[in-house]
Amino acid sequence: MKIGSPAERASAEARVALTPESAKQLQKLGHECLIQKGAGMKAGFSDEDYAQAGVKIVSSAKALWNASDLIIKVLSPDKTEIKYLDKTKTLVSFFWPAQNEALLTDVNKTGATVLAMDMVPRISRAQKMDALSSMANIAGYRAVIEAGNNFGRFFTGQITAAGKVPPAKVLVIGAGVAGLAAIGTAQSLGAIVRAFDVRPEVAEQIESMGADFLMLDFEEDGSGEGGYAKPASPEFIEKEMQLFREQAPEIDIVITTALIPGRPAPKLWPAEMVKLMKQGSVVVDLAAEQGGNCDLTKKDKIVESENGVKIVGYTDFPSRMAAQSSTLYSTNIRHMLDDLTPEKDGVLNVNLEDDVIRGATVCHQGKVTFPPPPPKIQAIGKQDAAPKPVELTVEERAALELEKERGIGRRQAGLLAVGSLFMLLIGAYAPASFMQHFIVFALSCFVGFQVIWNVSHALHTPLMAVTNAISGIIIIGALLQLGSPNNLVGILAAISVLIATINIVGGFMVTRRMLAMFQKS
Ligand code: NAI
Repeated sequence: MKIGSPAERASAEARVALTPESAKQLQKLGHECLIQKGAGMKAGFSDEDYAQAGVKIVSSAKALWNASDLIIKVLSPDKTEIKYLDKTKTLVSFFWPAQNEALLTDVNKTGATVLAMDMVPRISRAQKMDALSSMANIAGYRAVIEAGNNFGRFFTGQITAAGKVPPAKVLVIGAGVAGLAAIGTAQSLGAIVRAFDVRPEVAEQIESMGADFLMLDFEEDGSGEGGYAKPASPEFIEKEMQLFREQAPEIDIVITTALIPGRPAPKLWPAEMVKLMKQGSVVVDLAAEQGGNCDLTKKDKIVESENGVKIVGYTDFPSRMAAQSSTLYSTNIRHMLDDLTPEKDGVLNVNLEDDVIRGATVCHQGKVTFPPPPPKIQAIGKQDAAPKPVELTVEERAALELEKERGIGRRQAGLLAVGSLFMLLIGAYAPASFMQHFIVFALSCFVGFQVIWNVSHALHTPLMAVTNAISGIIIIGALLQLGSPNNLVGILAAISVLIATINIVGGFMVTRRMLAMFQKS
């Protein structure tokens, strides 16, 4: 199959859907790759880079669309591009079908198959194709950089000869993908970070990143379908605003990312809140595209309030980091095509039985297939769909516990009887010195097993360091036996040295890997 990537027609869009690296991977799936001349320039990929990766350079958009069976791009097609589509072609791009009904109808008339990258469901298996998350991650990072660019002070606190600099205080509203990326970035720059979200399950994530989760004394769970939030009640929003009102005078930077899919962004940082902020503070409104979380936000602009607060309303943060976003986006697309080419033979298989492919397919064989049915698999972060335990009465629970205890008791008595019988049998034939060693051996196995079995999983790494010490003792014992005149003893000692050495080396390797996870590079 010929996969073509045209240059984006919107002049402000710097991203590209195919990179030289992703092209190499796509070729391994049996596809041929084409790119429009200069399409990767703004993202830092030259035509030579593509040519070296085996990609064919096509001089015009029309020639590229005509020569390709599958077109991969970033933005949804405009009127000119729709004309290039027909029923033999498949398009993969961002599409926003819910917001672009007319576009969906027009594209469907061409008979083309369309897979919308923004419709990939948020389930674990689809994470590698989740372009929305990739882009939101970049937007969260860039929002902090942009805030820093418009903020006249350091993020980190410092004590210098010229005086003390307090750390900046950052408030992140909405801890989805973008929010968490913003928290991580602001935290790593040394700011004091606070965050709030309607979904209580993200509190742990916020705190694990070193930020403070602002608690709201209100009983309402904002978790909705598909790992997203559901609309909060007016009473909840009022309580939330009260919380923000208390925060506004001390906060230097606010990054708002609050959004409920398919709805206008909730107004959580209105003009009265901006008024409460100090002069020189910054608001970055990531939800500017959906109307903004702040009243004063102007789409794609930076405005300054009367009291000197800057409000950043850019909607193109990923495009402002085009090299990074193109790399991630093209990888998301490559993974999608991996699933669309299961036989790796260059033949596309739009399998509508597959949750992810079904979710993303918005037009197929002349039919509009949007909206998709809800995915059969549970969404990431959605715990309330987990099977619930059957409610039992106190008596039923006590009877069940008793039965369980009795079962365990019976099993233990059985094991004890078998063990004793075995010991008696050995005792009847083996010499007394052997029995003494054997009992010590059996007891140490029992104690060792009990100790290791009862250690929680989280402590297995330190445990491994302890077993290294035990392995060390084994090696010393085995080394003393290596020179034994009895060949069997010598062989057993050598095997012991080998196994204990593997245990020690493996233990150190695993411990090192675990420690590396907590080290900043
Ligand atoms: P997401 O759905 O993962 O996160 C949104 C978060 O807002 C959720 O955690 C939700 O619980 C929370 N939320 C909803 N209502 C709230 C409320 N009343 N109070 C507090 N939290 C609330 O979305 P994601 O992917 O993190 O994107 C966030 C925003 O960033 C979206 O508006 C998206 O369109 C935007 N975005 C902007 C870009 C830009 O260049 N400006 C680029 C990419 C994304």
